[in-house]
Amino acid sequence: MNEDNLWCLQENGYHAGLHKHYEGLFTQGNGYMHVRASFEEGCSDAPQDEEYLRFPDNVTLEKPRHPKSKQGTYIPGIVGQHPLLKEEIVNLPYFLGLEFRSAGERLDMDRSRISGYSRRLDLRDGRLHRSFLWETEEGMKLQCTYSRYLSMADTHLSIQQVQLEVLTGEVQLEVKATLRADVRTNGMNHFARVIPSADFNEGSMSLETLTEEGNQIFMHAVLETSEPLSWQAEHTPLMAALRGECKLQAGNRFTLSKLIAVTTDRDPEEGAVRSRALTELSRARSLGWEQLYHRHAESWKRKWQEADVAIKGDDHAQLSVRASLYHLIRSNAARDARVAICAKGYAGEAYFGRYFWDTEINLLPFFLHTNPQAARNLLLFRYNTLEGAKRNAQKYGYRGARYAWESSISGEEQCANWQYADHEIHITADIVYAMYHYVRATGDEAFLEQYGIDMLVETARYWCGRVDWNREGTCELLGVMGPDEYLPLTRNNAFTNRMVKFSLEQTVACLDSLQGIRPESYAAAAERLCLDPEERELFRNTAEKLRLPYDSKTEIVPQSDDFASYADLDFDSIWTDRSRPFGHFISQERNYRSKALKQADVLELMLLFPQEFTEEQLKAAYNYYEPITTHDSSLSVAVHGIVASWLNQKETAANFLQRVMAIDLSAEKKGAAEGIHIANCGGLWQLIVYGFAGLKSAMWSESIELQPRLPEGWEELSFPLAWRGERYRVTVIQDGYEVHKLNGGDSVAGATI
Ligand code: BGC
Repeated sequence: MNEDNLWCLQENGYHAGLHKHYEGLFTQGNGYMHVRASFEEGCSDAPQDEEYLRFPDNVTLEKPRHPKSKQGTYIPGIVGQHPLLKEEIVNLPYFLGLEFRSAGERLDMDRSRISGYSRRLDLRDGRLHRSFLWETEEGMKLQCTYSRYLSMADTHLSIQQVQLEVLTGEVQLEVKATLRADVRTNGMNHFARVIPSADFNEGSMSLETLTEEGNQIFMHAVLETSEPLSWQAEHTPLMAALRGECKLQAGNRFTLSKLIAVTTDRDPEEGAVRSRALTELSRARSLGWEQLYHRHAESWKRKWQEADVAIKGDDHAQLSVRASLYHLIRSNAARDARVAICAKGYAGEAYFGRYFWDTEINLLPFFLHTNPQAARNLLLFRYNTLEGAKRNAQKYGYRGARYAWESSISGEEQCANWQYADHEIHITADIVYAMYHYVRATGDEAFLEQYGIDMLVETARYWCGRVDWNREGTCELLGVMGPDEYLPLTRNNAFTNRMVKFSLEQTVACLDSLQGIRPESYAAAAERLCLDPEERELFRNTAEKLRLPYDSKTEIVPQSDDFASYADLDFDSIWTDRSRPFGHFISQERNYRSKALKQADVLELMLLFPQEFTEEQLKAAYNYYEPITTHDSSLSVAVHGIVASWLNQKETAANFLQRVMAIDLSAEKKGAAEGIHIANCGGLWQLIVYGFAGLKSAMWSESIELQPRLPEGWEELSFPLAWRGERYRVTVIQDGYEVHKLNGGDSVAGATI
């Protein structure tokens, strides 16, 4: 295999039925903005301005709209209000529009005569390439080549280039470049005002959009062509458009470049939206195409140096892991802790651009060990939304802070389904776990003092209100949905109770240590938080008395106190087509009273607290729960893969690896159509690093310790690892590993043979 094949996602041949999948899979982004990989010219029979009302539903089971194509342009933080579904990220105007006509015939991937079609997303630099031969009805042949990227270095810029080479005939070519606001978000129009304008002498145009929420988005595009064109404006109320024509003959090569700057009033930079976009563009033009690309490519290169996982002996796994890392890297808003990473990796609207526990449990480990600053930002996002979490608690009648199951950008609960919103409460403790994971992996203890203490105290207050005390003097968490969302109202979910206990214990420990080591800082926090001296005792007592539905002697750790009382199911008679989610084959009513897990629950607990369970318990849990787990959630398979690997079940772990990789990549499943399963991308990194390399979590280990179990055929696995302020390179082979410290000499931190 050549290098390209290890770095490029490829689409060979155009199939209309797969277009939406590739639009999601090839999404480009630079942290600041993200664009699905729709064709520049759009798609026939795929209008983007269809209005409809999306109803609250279970996303896994919902039938999505837009069978063929869904454009998506997202800037994290620009949101609108849906009348039924609450806050959603706004699908912004589509700025990549470029249409071509030859003698009136419009280029269209479905209707035109196209051959040799291929598309390629180069993960090294995030550039998307498309090429094909267009044979017009009049018999002209044009070789068409497109490329585009969103600059990783100059994040307000999008750069597009198209080359049309006339192979035979003479062409009267018509070019139309657009910025179009005739798009919808889940069927809603969130634009209050759209103003198109153009300067045809300059070949430039702009689109000013005001959203209903009052955000301003300014898009400014400049066109450059190899043949001089005289541009004419062809605006409609929702579209800025410039049209030009030229005559081309066999042998001619026509090139068109479209450089776009996008700015909004939410950007961290100072200055008016319009003038910043214009400044960005003129700076870009003075840099020139090559410099622009060079800056962009360098920036990607640095990101890959910090994150790339190299696998020798399994090319498919190599490409798949890079695809996942690519999406993780582009989803990270490097300079903005007012947003986190939404569940679809800003590549679709299925989850409305909201933030789930996915961030803390599935994504954070990757960032902790590749880009600690990004991990810090993700936690800062939770600190920044603490006020929203306090409002949530208040709405439910509690003191303190209750983080939202589906968080808005201000932290308030957006989940439109009561089961999850009301009962999937573990998220509040997951955030605390993640914060400690961050502190232990980076050594950034100051984070706790500066930000963490407020989160700890406020969430502890919430837990003290949420528990119920029983006659035996212990307390419980009743009416809880654990990670397994197929049981909505359980008693003492093991995962949740353990996480809450941890969270309360850490709160007490943090208060104790702050008071001891930094009394003035403690005093300031106590005053700021109106901390009653008795509260700490309450936290301590609640932590101590919170029941765990298991102990070290329990062979099978129960998912919840009442788990055994749910009905057993005969899966084979119900789930007759295993290529579809189990949830499609059973009513919610029956599902909610049966032992069928949506995803890892006890196993997730064991992953986060491995030292508390014996190997026998791990094995027993795996053998008991896996057969009744449907993996209807994409968060499930990676966890099972890790556990299988820890149990040294190499073949099973390798099968899970295949399933993890297929979730977004498989064209057959069209998994990326509604966006990227970004938690699963983080899950793949964890499967490789925690599962196959066997890295002991920084949560429980001061130094880098590995227990590798590489899949059959893997000759070498290597990856960079940030650990407590230093950077290392870990190399694993079938019978050993090495850890080299980077940028500080060649010292070996640990090795086994
Ligand atoms: C899963 C949740 C997850 C959410 C967003 C659901 O299907 O069950 O655990 O947080 O998707 O990815």
